[in-house]
Parts: sequence; structure tokens; C-alpha cells
Amino acid sequence: MVYLMRFHQRFFYILAILLLAGSAYWYFSLTTHVPDQDSWRMPVVSVDEPITPLPLTLNLDPNKVALGKRLFNDPRLSADNTISCASCHDLERGGVDGRPRALGIGGAVGGINVPTVFNSGFNFRQFWDGRAASLEDQIDGPVQHPKEMGSTWPKVVENLKGDSAYQSDFKQIYPEGITPATIKDAIASFERSLYTPNSKFDRYLRGEKNSLDGEEVAGYHLFKEIGCIACHQGVNVGGNMYEKIGLVENYFEQRGNIEQVDLGRFNITKNEEHRYEFRVPSLRNVALTAPYFHDASAVDLKKAVAIMGKFQLGVDLKPDEIDRIVKFLNTLTGEYEGRSLSQAETTGHEK
Ligand code: HEC
Ligand code: HEC
Repeated sequence: MVYLMRFHQRFFYILAILLLAGSAYWYFSLTTHVPDQDSWRMPVVSVDEPITPLPLTLNLDPNKVALGKRLFNDPRLSADNTISCASCHDLERGGVDGRPRALGIGGAVGGINVPTVFNSGFNFRQFWDGRAASLEDQIDGPVQHPKEMGSTWPKVVENLKGDSAYQSDFKQIYPEGITPATIKDAIASFERSLYTPNSKFDRYLRGEKNSLDGEEVAGYHLFKEIGCIACHQGVNVGGNMYEKIGLVENYFEQRGNIEQVDLGRFNITKNEEHRYEFRVPSLRNVALTAPYFHDASAVDLKKAVAIMGKFQLGVDLKPDEIDRIVKFLNTLTGEYEGRSLSQAETTGHEK
């Protein structure tokens, strides 16, 4: 009831968000999603919920995945052979580096927080501002970015051609051998294998009601009731629409010191309506990927949830409400290769 009253003033915002979310959900459920070349088996879902479980299996070409894994971990993709994709996207740390800003070749500090690579194949676009349409296209970014890997495609191809094992392994899968396109294809295949099914929450959605305790369920209800679900929804609990950060209150005015990266989608479209718009991030495994937001302004989940309540929904969440939502968010940690991601670090998971 309290929420309904608080809602009243924000009615139009919420209505707008819900309409937007509904149409985005409808649109993207028709047009996008997941590896088009791979068929995927959906688990049985017992209830009609705005979040759906991740598939338990994906049909991916194991040879491409294995080749992509080697490339993902190979520093020869960088100009000075020091940085691999895994340097910034550490699979033992939730697919991120835990830093506020990325650290590239020669110690160069980047301009934006590293998002996870886990489940990135389920996002409708790549990057915070959505500027890459696919995982394949995304790879041009880090390889050539002067503050990331600082290389060029001719140099990467030449490096890899110097390795006879790569020469023959590429030939077995791709008749054309080592090219930018085949490198990207293999890496993207590996990235699609980085999905994390079987989180406690997904098991709950599949009908295992005991997989969540009362507080976690209450957190999920609150998440839906106050409207987080309008933006963070679908199979990736996000990743299927653009939204402004600071929808209800001006986030950047209060944070101060606006930089170019803060302009979000405006940088690409130059359309005023897209200023400060970002692709809504997935909240899967979010417990592992601090600090939060494109600007890493939230050091922990409590802070991130409070900011979201205030700036996206106009709600000042109480500490116990924040705790409950954080408990729910913690249930979104899934499994990679059959093991909970939260254990990956302590068990020394193979890279
Ligand atoms: C120096 C650190 C660094 C390296 C090296 C790096 N990345 Fe990233 N990655 C980032 C940052 C920072 C972003 C976000 C950039 C942005 O949104 O503008 C990102 C974004 C991504 C995304 C998009 C995720 C999303 O949710 O939008 C994917 C996928 C990705 N990287 C894969 C890779 C692959 C594959 C490689 C190796 C070819 C790689 N990265 C190398 C730092 C790095
Ligand atoms: C109007 C859409 C919208 C609503 C409603 C919304 N969010 Fe967000 N959320 C976003 C956007 C956009 C971002 C990325 C902002 C950025 O990085 O600057 C984000 C980021 C986050 C992050 C950080 C993720 C990361 O990887 O850094 C968390 C956690 C989060 N939201 C939780 C919530 C919770 C909890 C609620 C409800 C209290 C909520 N959100 C409501 C759009 C929304």
C-alpha cells in the first residue's frame, strides 16, 4: 500500500516505463536474442514471470568454443603481447576486473567500468551505450582501442600466423584460415559459452520453491512492486532496452563532473533524446561485479540499489528494503561449467 501511495506521484513515469518495457520486451522477443545459429533448449517454467531462466544447455560448436577460449586468453591479441581479453574479463571474478576503470596496455587507464562477459550473448547490443550490434562486432573495440589492446587486425593476424598450432586449428574449422572474421567468430562462440544457468533464482522459477528463503522471495516481490522489473527483466534480467540513468532525478547534476562517456547513447546518435541513455545492464551474477554503473560510482550493491530507487523510480528505499532487494540480487549468481560462479575464485577454476 505504501508503495502505491508513493507511486501515485510518479504514476506517469511508471506508466511510461512499463509501456516502454512492455513494447521492448515484445519487440526483442520477436527479433533478437541469443546465437541465431544455435538452437537452445528452454527449461520448463512453472509460472508466468517477467524474468525467465537461462537455458540449461546451448548447442555450440565445441571446436570453435575451444579455439575461442585460447584466443580469449592470448595476450598476442594486444600490441605489446601483455594484455588478453581475460586480463580485464577475469572468469574467476565474475568476468570483470574489479577495478573502477579498465587497465590496458602500458598501464593505460580507460574511461569506463568493465562489464561482465558472462551471459553477454543474451544482451540485445554490446557495450554500455550499445554501440556494437553483436559479439563479433564488439571485438573490434578492445583489439584496436589505444587504451585496451592497442593493436591492429593485420598485426594480430600476423602474430597468430606465426603459431603453427593456430594455423592448423583454424584450418580445421575455417577453410579460409586465420582472418579477422574467423578470429572474431571463434571468440564470439566462446563468449556464447559463458552463460550461467541454474542460479537459485532460476531454480525457483523452474518450480523449486525451496531454493529461495522468505527474505529472498520478499526481495523479488519488492523488485517487481516498486518497478525495477520495468527495466531489468527478460532472460538476462536486463540487457534488452536502453534507458536513461537519472530518469526521475538528474543523476549527473548531483554526481558532478560530466565526462564524454556519461553522455551514453548520445555519443553515437547525437540525438538529444539519447543523452545519458545506456543499455540497461543484466543483473545476472551482479553480486560478483562491483563496483557498479558505467562510472563505477557505487562501491557495493546496497549503494547501487539505493541510487536506482532514487534516480530511476523516485523512491527513497529504507535500509531493510535495500537489504531485501540485495538478498534477491544475490540469488542471481549462476553456474559456469557446473560450478557456482561465486566459488570460482576459491577453487582455483581453470581459466
Ligand atoms: C583493457 C581492458 C579490456 C580488455 C583487454 C578487453 N575488454 Fe572487453 N570491455 C572492457 C570495457 C571497459 C568494456 C566496456 C566498454 C564500453 O562499454 O564502452 C568492455 C566491454 C566488453 C563487452 C561488452 C559487454 C556488455 O555487457 O556490453 C564484451 C562482450 C567484451 N568486452 C569482450 C571482450 C573481448 C572478447 C576481449 C578481447 C578481444 C576484450 N573484451 C578485451 C575492457 C576490456
Ligand atoms: C528506468 C530503467 C531502470 C529502472 C526502473 C531500474 N534500473 Fe537499474 N539500471 C538501469 C540502467 C540504465 C543502469 C545502468 C546505469 C549506468 O551504468 O550508468 C542500471 C544499473 C543497475 C545496476 C548496476 C549494474 C552494473 O552491472 O553495474 C543495478 C545493481 C541495478 N541497476 C539495480 C536496480 C534495482 C534494484 C532497481 C529498482 C530499485 C533498478 N535497478 C531500477 C535502468 C533501470
